[in-house]
Amino acid sequence: MEVDKKVFDHLLPERLKTALCGLLKRCGPSFLRARIWDREFDSGQWDYLDSTKDDYIYGYLKNYAADGRILDMGCGSGNTGTELAYDSYSAYDGVDISTLAVRRAEKRSEMEGRQRKNQYIVGDILTFTTMRCTISYSFESPCIIFQPEKL
Ligand SMILES: C[S@@+](CC[C@H](N)C(=O)[O-])C[C@H]1O[C@@H](n2cnc3c(N)ncnc32)[C@H](O)[C@@H]1O
Repeated sequence: MEVDKKVFDHLLPERLKTALCGLLKRCGPSFLRARIWDREFDSGQWDYLDSTKDDYIYGYLKNYAADGRILDMGCGSGNTGTELAYDSYSAYDGVDISTLAVRRAEKRSEMEGRQRKNQYIVGDILTFTTMRCTISYSFESPCIIFQPEKL
């Protein structure tokens, strides 16, 4: 019983923190959402997304982009824009609310020699006006799931 209480006491603040962050990421103000995402990228929480080379989605993207312009909403730290076959698109715009993720994406894109085709923008896609593109795409971006009516 004593052990259970200790575990509970220890876990509760962490759980509350996680729940609060989740809530703020869904409906908090833009600047707070940006800070939370930045912190998560900084902590390494999303490092596992750095390599998604064999993702099935790239096949679809290639087909639908048809050598056109891709808008990636919630692009993260640059996996899609650098893993997608170079010849499957003519231009790629990655938008993300996290400045840290965007800086990483820019660096990665430069390292891969894609800086002429790829551009990255820090921004909240929920407040974005339109951008010209052949296909808009969003993968694993909670903003799409929770507030689709805003898009
Ligand atoms: C789970 S990550 C997915 C990253 C990338 N799409 C991928 O598949 O690896 C979700 C991304 O959406 C971004 N994001 C969340 N809400 C956003 C918003 N309102 N506007 C722009 N980006 C947002 C986060 O910063 C994060 O980079």
